[in-house]
Amino acid sequence: MNAPAPPSPSPVPTLAELPLPVRLTLALFLLSVGLGYISALVQLHFQHASPGALLPSPEDVVRVFHGAVGEKPQSKIEQLLPEDYQGKKMNGQGQMTAAFFKRSEDYNNAIAERARQLAQKQGLKKPDKAIKEAAKAEIDQERNGERLAMIAWVRNGAKEEEYTEDNFPLPPDLAHLPITRKMLVEQNGQPVEPRAVKIQTLFRERCATCHQDGGEAQHFPLTNFAEIKKYASVKTSAGMSLEKLAQTTHVHLLSFSMLYGLTGLILAFSNYPRWVRTVLCPLPLLAQVVDISFWWLARLPEPQGPMFARCIVYSGAGVAVGLLLHIVLSLFNLFRVKGWLILVLLFAAAGYAGYEAKIRVIDPFIAQEKSASTEEK
Ligand code: HEC
Repeated sequence: MNAPAPPSPSPVPTLAELPLPVRLTLALFLLSVGLGYISALVQLHFQHASPGALLPSPEDVVRVFHGAVGEKPQSKIEQLLPEDYQGKKMNGQGQMTAAFFKRSEDYNNAIAERARQLAQKQGLKKPDKAIKEAAKAEIDQERNGERLAMIAWVRNGAKEEEYTEDNFPLPPDLAHLPITRKMLVEQNGQPVEPRAVKIQTLFRERCATCHQDGGEAQHFPLTNFAEIKKYASVKTSAGMSLEKLAQTTHVHLLSFSMLYGLTGLILAFSNYPRWVRTVLCPLPLLAQVVDISFWWLARLPEPQGPMFARCIVYSGAGVAVGLLLHIVLSLFNLFRVKGWLILVLLFAAAGYAGYEAKIRVIDPFIAQEKSASTEEK
């Protein structure tokens, strides 16, 4: 039988009792983890935050983990053909509706011609103001019909044979749409019934004028089916791909767990009250598991998915706060008065450097990012 070990008031040494080399190593480890975490936040900004914001907002997080919410997915062509287009620029972020109206080559001629016909019907030699207005209203209505027909073709799946045959049978709800006569498929000089639209002609006359060699938008040609199809397909933004999500999940669970485990263990050997250690030491590990389960739950359909996605901001903050406390509390517990002084000076210097970086580098950068993104719009 061995002699019983002498009773020890503290069988496990606390941080402050460790030899100096151990404490210095732990201190440097904690500081390195802190710096590493800051660079991870910088990466988060570049990857996911909206221009002009420091960190991702709940809405950004929903976009990343769940995908677009509430808006019906639309093809580019449909997006660019809103009914109300006044005041929007004619470009890839604005509208192309004007292509059916004042930006079509024959718009003014078409109105003048219609006004002449209307005047003739009324036995007038020259159209008066009221007739001109009536003519414009008729033409506008027919051009709007062209726009609706184009959207209908796109929504209907932008079928290749309808394009090559220049024959898109209008869906029943548009069967009686007022529409430019020359855009209707005819047989023996009469529009076929039920009506069908010359969809290829429509693209050629209303879009290709600019979207072809020598045109204003020649770099985005719309002269054949393949070129058009690119803009006629619906791209749903379904959030992060499963592959990427699985990858970040295992990276976080394996490598970050090691980190949070080590920082947690260091704090566990501090002499803070037991309940403080019991709550704080496992906190980042727990918050991370919750965080990652939210990543996966964010893929659920609405309304649950976006709700879980919004929670990611808070679970992520839980991880960050937990880690910060591990670092700061452990550092102060590693040393006594002299060490505290050094730490306070160190943190003060870091705070000052951080403040200077914020006003000199970060704020101007964020402001520049924001103005660049509003100019694009
Ligand atoms: C009066 C000239 C004009 C007409 C007519 C016109 N567009 Fe455009 N379109 C433009 C310009 C200019 C841009 C912006 C090009 C750029 O970003 O350099 C553009 C951009 C686009 C884009 C985005 C291209 C991209 O990848 O950014 C699409 C899609 C588009 N137009 C579709 C159409 C459709 C469909 C029609 C016919 C209904 C049409 N356009 C008629 C001038 C025109």
